[in-house]
Amino acid sequence: MKRTKYTVANWKMNGLTGSINIVKSISRHIKRSKHIKSRIVICPPFTLLSYFAQNDNTISFGGQNCHFLENGAFTGSISAPMLKSVGCKFVIIGHSERRQYQKETSKEINLKIKAAISANLKVIYCIGEKLNQIKNRNVILKRQINSLPINFNNKNIIIAYEPVWAIGTGKTPTADEINNIHLKIRKLLAIKIGASKSNGISILYGGSVNANNAYEILNLPEVDGALVGGASLKAKEFSKIIDSYK
Ligand code: 13P
Repeated sequence: MKRTKYTVANWKMNGLTGSINIVKSISRHIKRSKHIKSRIVICPPFTLLSYFAQNDNTISFGGQNCHFLENGAFTGSISAPMLKSVGCKFVIIGHSERRQYQKETSKEINLKIKAAISANLKVIYCIGEKLNQIKNRNVILKRQINSLPINFNNKNIIIAYEPVWAIGTGKTPTADEINNIHLKIRKLLAIKIGASKSNGISILYGGSVNANNAYEILNLPEVDGALVGGASLKAKEFSKIIDSYK
């Protein structure tokens, strides 16, 4: 089955300077290129979102997180309808940095996914094992897939497999391992929502993707794109990643 490919930039808490030029440069690259094989999404910090989303229609934009309620007394939080209202089409949920530093639980993640879907956002749901969980990877991935809502619509969910030990470290699993783990994830999705629906879900790889390894990773049969951190803050490098699909 032909699935949509996505090249997603997760800027994390970066982009204080030069960010407009990065977006403009990537946008120019997309307009010039005759070889764009994926949908390009940038997830900058909240403060930049509305400006970008309203000034560039070549790229899609997304939040890096949302609250699970629509509004209320939650100082510092942003809700899914708020993201939608400034032009977001996507939101990252369950990133390992939020699981680790904000102590996000599976229950909370499940509620956030539901809130994002209700607000008509596509969810980029991050899963992946820590270094000390590699031997238990299957159990961890199964638990994380089970945090997805029951009977979710496959059009609303994109999975990003990000081994925590590969994030920002320059290390990645081998190409064979990535392909096999994605196959395993698809089997877990099939158990949850059925084989034919699960076949339509894009599974991205994330963790130390850069211009050098993108070609090998992005052209694996089970990989439907990438979630890129550090390398997405450099317009030229991110453009090379965008160009790496066959
Ligand atoms: P790096 O590409 O910097 O390893 O980050 C990956 C990531 O966490 C994207 O969400």
